Amino acid sequence: MGLFESIVNTPGIVDADWPLGQSKTMYKRLWTKAAALVPVLAAALVLGCRQEAVKESLIVGFSQIGAESAWRTCNTRSIQEAAAGAGVQLLFTNAEQKQENQIKAIRSFIAYQVDVIAFVPIVEDGWENVLEEAKNAGIPVLVTDRKIRVRDESLYAGYFGTDSVQEGREAGYFLLDKFQDRLESGKAIRIAELAGTVGSSPAQGRAEGFREIIAPYSQFEIVYSESGDFLRSKGYELMRLLLAKGPSFDVVYSHNDGMTLGALEAMKERGLDPGREVVIITIDAEQAAIDALKKGEVNCVIECNPQQGPDIIRLAKDLAAGRAVPRSAHAEEVVFSEGDDLSALPPRGY
Ligand code: AHR
Repeated sequence: MGLFESIVNTPGIVDADWPLGQSKTMYKRLWTKAAALVPVLAAALVLGCRQEAVKESLIVGFSQIGAESAWRTCNTRSIQEAAAGAGVQLLFTNAEQKQENQIKAIRSFIAYQVDVIAFVPIVEDGWENVLEEAKNAGIPVLVTDRKIRVRDESLYAGYFGTDSVQEGREAGYFLLDKFQDRLESGKAIRIAELAGTVGSSPAQGRAEGFREIIAPYSQFEIVYSESGDFLRSKGYELMRLLLAKGPSFDVVYSHNDGMTLGALEAMKERGLDPGREVVIITIDAEQAAIDALKKGEVNCVIECNPQQGPDIIRLAKDLAAGRAVPRSAHAEEVVFSEGDDLSALPPRGY
């Protein structure tokens, strides 16, 4: 509309003084000017219509952290498919594992005046300033998959994702069950932990929930804990070094399947028999981890559900419509353990 106004009010056309009895040349000159403006007016009309169409569909700016795992790729696909299915325009950005890229992306969403901003925070801290900017711009923010830690909780509208603390607890419960006999004998059970990205909520929550469950049993000893950044390559490297330099261990508790798969590779290279000589617990439930569980190379797989797209888009629509969303909501998750009948389990899709 603004664009139309500026063209309609162009001096010499509407404001031109057209006295009766003007010479032919004068009219010709004016008509030539008007004719020259036809394409401009047409373009403005098209642009105006396009702007109206865009306004009608909801615009969500989404900042994803990257593509570090099969899990993450599935999470991205789920969000993109849900947006397309709901007719939501998704401005999608990939931060390539850098918080500064996420902050830039969020700033660009603010500049674009999207209806809702959603993002997966790579780490918990450092979001205050940019979320303040979104709040001042009146754009609601939905935090997804991973959590953030801010002093002012009003900086975001809500969180939807997985319950990392519970995932860690599930790993602890499995160990209690698995080592029931040994716990009674009092013999030490040595645990090597492959942790996720330092400062990220899943690394934090999975460590916390696990420790909460095993803490009352002094037989459990975490003899090693290093971050493998949720990467298969780092899982492999850490395990190679661990096997070369020690300490020795009875259990591997890995914060994601990517790192687990790398660690399994390193263990097999050293002639170890994972799942039998060493108990393996992993989180995510990628197809490759389920296959390893079926082969007996892994003992417990805790699902972390990446199919968050439909809920994220539903919540974004609620926010855009001015409806309140839950402060914190979790995706449903299950645990797969050795001995389970997995013959009818549908393909995981990631
Ligand atoms: O935030 C979820 C975690 O991030 C998944 O467990 C992992 O695979 C991903 O990198």
